[in-house]
Amino acid sequence: MTKPKMAVKELDFFYGPVRALSNVTLDIESNQITALIGPSGCGKSTFLRCLNRMNDTIKGTRVEGRVLLDGQNVYDDDQDVVELRRRVGLVFQKPNPFPQSVYDNVAFGPRSLGLNRDRRLDEIVEEALRRAVLWKEVKEDLKQPALSLSLGQQQRLCIARTLAVRPEVILMDEPCSALDPIATLKVEELMQTLKARYTIVIVTHNMQQAARVSDRTGFFWLGELIEYRSTERIFTRPKHELTQGYVMGRMG
Ligand SMILES: Nc1ncnc2c1ncn2[C@@H]1O[C@H](COP(=O)(O)OP(=O)(O)OP(=O)(O)O)[C@@H](O)[C@H]1O
Ligand SMILES: [Mg+2]
Repeated sequence: MTKPKMAVKELDFFYGPVRALSNVTLDIESNQITALIGPSGCGKSTFLRCLNRMNDTIKGTRVEGRVLLDGQNVYDDDQDVVELRRRVGLVFQKPNPFPQSVYDNVAFGPRSLGLNRDRRLDEIVEEALRRAVLWKEVKEDLKQPALSLSLGQQQRLCIARTLAVRPEVILMDEPCSALDPIATLKVEELMQTLKARYTIVIVTHNMQQAARVSDRTGFFWLGELIEYRSTERIFTRPKHELTQGYVMGRMG
C-alpha cells in the first residue's frame, strides 16, 4: 500500500450550531481522481473546502478531526494557510477569471508568491497553459481579455491559473456544470492527463461524469460518507441501499 496523498480522519464540520459533516474518514490516493457525489446539501462542497481550509474564511464555523496532507495535519496551528492553498488548489463551479488578460490571469499566482524569482514568468505561464490544454487556442494573443474567451476556455484558464502555482492536489467543485457537452468533454479529457502529475478530487452531480473520469467514488448523504469504493464497484455493485437508490435513480 502506498501512502495516501491526503487522509481525512473523523472530520466534523459545523456552521454555527448546524452540523454539516459527521465523522467523515477517507483517504485520497495520489495520482487518482476521486469523485464525490450525493444529493444537494449533503456537504460535498463543505467537505472539499475543508481540504484546503477555504471554510476558514466563513465566520462562525468549526472543524473537528484531522486532515492530513502527506501525513501532516493541515489544521495544525503552525500550518501556513497560503502555502496550503498553493499545494491544494480549488477550481470553482463557474469559471471566474479576473477581468484582466489571459496572461495576467495565469501570472497572478506566481507573481504574488514570487515564483518568478527562479524562472521566467513567460515560461511559467506557457507551461501552465500547455498543461491546461489551452495554449494552442490562446498563444497568438495572450493579451486578450480573459472574459472574451468561451466559457469552456475560461474554465481551462482557471485550471491553468491553479496549475501555475505548482499545486499537488486539485479540488474541483462541479467544474463542468456551466459548460456545454463539448467543453465538458475537453475538461474531462484534461483531468485524465492531469492525473499523471496531480491528485484530483471532483464534486459532480453528473453520474456519467463520475463513472467516466474517476477511480474512486464517495457517496455523501446528510453530511455522512455512506460509501467509498472503486468507481466501478459503486456504479455496479454498491453495498449500501442508499447508494444504490441514488446511483440507480440518477442513472436510469
Ligand atoms: N456558508 C454557509 N453557512 C451556513 N450553512 C451553510 C453554508 N454553506 C453550506 N451550508 C449548509 O451546509 C450543508 C451542506 O452544504 P454544501 O454546500 O456543502 O452541500 P453540497 O453537497 O455541496 O450541495 P450542492 O450539491 O447543492 O452544491 C447544507 O445544509 C447547507 O445549507
Ligand atoms: Mg456544492
